[in-house]
Amino acid sequence: MTVRTTPPTPADEQRHSLLEIDQYIERLFVPRDFVFLQALRDAAEAGLPKINVSPNEGKLLYLLARIAGARRVLEIGLLGGYSAMWLAQAIGSQGRLVTLDIDEKCIRVARKNLERAGLASRVEIRHGDAPVLLKRMVEAEEPPFDLVFIDADKPAYPVYLDYAVKLTHPGSLILADNVIRDGKVTVEAENDKRVLGIQEFNKKLAVHPKLETILVTVTRNGVDGLAIARVKD
Ligand code: DHB
Ligand code: MG
Repeated sequence: MTVRTTPPTPADEQRHSLLEIDQYIERLFVPRDFVFLQALRDAAEAGLPKINVSPNEGKLLYLLARIAGARRVLEIGLLGGYSAMWLAQAIGSQGRLVTLDIDEKCIRVARKNLERAGLASRVEIRHGDAPVLLKRMVEAEEPPFDLVFIDADKPAYPVYLDYAVKLTHPGSLILADNVIRDGKVTVEAENDKRVLGIQEFNKKLAVHPKLETILVTVTRNGVDGLAIARVKD
């Protein structure tokens, strides 16, 4: 326990919680949209874990895709389709979002959410084990993606990074969720497989000769992060 030796300063008393700050940003910049809210409600009702990106992070993904002018996007880890809705909205009616998931229930929920949002025609959901699907995509020499968003099982993040680099072009963005894990990534002696996967991923990103990268913190109740990497020219 920390023992306070000095009285709280006015700055201490004015410090607000991460959640309050996050909600402030959301109120101002993420208009409440029925189909997006309903997507989260349906995912929860179907029993999917509440590990979707937050509305603010969804808006961030949307903006990054818009700024990059992304038309072809690959998502690894669909869950209930909430981030897919943000990305599909960003790419426009001529865009294509390919999204991978191994869980049939996730795919059912996500397909319904994308249909209700009028976005299903620009989204191709592929069912299967992501490393297998990605290997096949490389072998088939699929046209490169302008943006890849990694948000799936954490131990496989380093593998997903290798495929993401193979499936992109100079100037593409590679984004990855959950790269801070409440600061657990800073602890060298971690033994949680998920944290270890992220630590290896972050180190790999940091020294990757083909990428220029930063991690930005993303807050909600705690602190997590989004990796933003650009494939060098
Ligand atoms: C977990 C996975 C996520 O993608 C996320 O955003 C939060 C938590 C998890 O597996 O615990
Ligand atoms: Mg995530």
